[in-house]
Amino acid sequence: MRIVFLGPPGSGKGTQAKLVSQRLSVPAVSTGDMLRIAVRTATPLGMKARAVMAQGELVPDDLMFGLIRERLTQADAGAGAGAGASKGFVLDGYPRTIPQAESFEKLLAEDGAVLDAVVNFDVPDPVLVERLSGRADVERRADDRPETVRERLRVYHEKTEPLVNYYRGKGLLVSVDAVGGIDEVAQRIERGLAARARQGAA
Ligand code: AP5
Repeated sequence: MRIVFLGPPGSGKGTQAKLVSQRLSVPAVSTGDMLRIAVRTATPLGMKARAVMAQGELVPDDLMFGLIRERLTQADAGAGAGAGASKGFVLDGYPRTIPQAESFEKLLAEDGAVLDAVVNFDVPDPVLVERLSGRADVERRADDRPETVRERLRVYHEKTEPLVNYYRGKGLLVSVDAVGGIDEVAQRIERGLAARARQGAA
């Protein structure tokens, strides 16, 4: 399965990506985690991304494409650039703009691969703010400060939310109510993906 998780900051994409990845035995690929490692280890990409991320803005599309291309052509995911049979992935945090979605589609097409589903995490903004301010106390992520969370939400609504209609138009969208307990949301995702797989097979 090649699955994209789409949703606002704090909607639970990372939490659920790990669960689905275990259940389906495919890697969970988080662009946010990859960027945070790059920042921590001060790679050239990390140096460019640090300030952008701390302000809650998006890292430029061309840098993100390089990162995702390199990761998804590794053997465990095997998508694009003639990497052979695609094994699949749960992608958390990419694509995040329409141009990212378009170049991603071309990358998959290099292998004759397509996405199977795009799970959209539906959570109202006040719940997101509450979750992220809770995490700010525990994990101390630099971009969980209230003013940065507001900017991340603004950027999400402006640049990423249009992907909901984009993927709906392609018949790939699985919308999930992501308010509720982690297990409850996991079950909704499982049911949504199963329904989507049945549609795809019909
Ligand atoms: P990224 O790390 O992707 O941040 P995000 O989308 O803002 O997502 P989060 O990790 O904050 O939230 P999540 O939806 O994964 O929720 P989580 O499971 O953690 O990206 C960070 C930055 O990197 C971006 O701002 C940007 O600068 C850059 N970037 C990344 N990808 C990019 C791209 N493609 N293009 C350009 N720039 C890019 O859960 C959140 C909290 O809620 C946790 O504390 C969790 O324990 C809790 N929680 C989870 N589920 C539940 C539940 N059901 N009920 C209650 N609490 C819950």
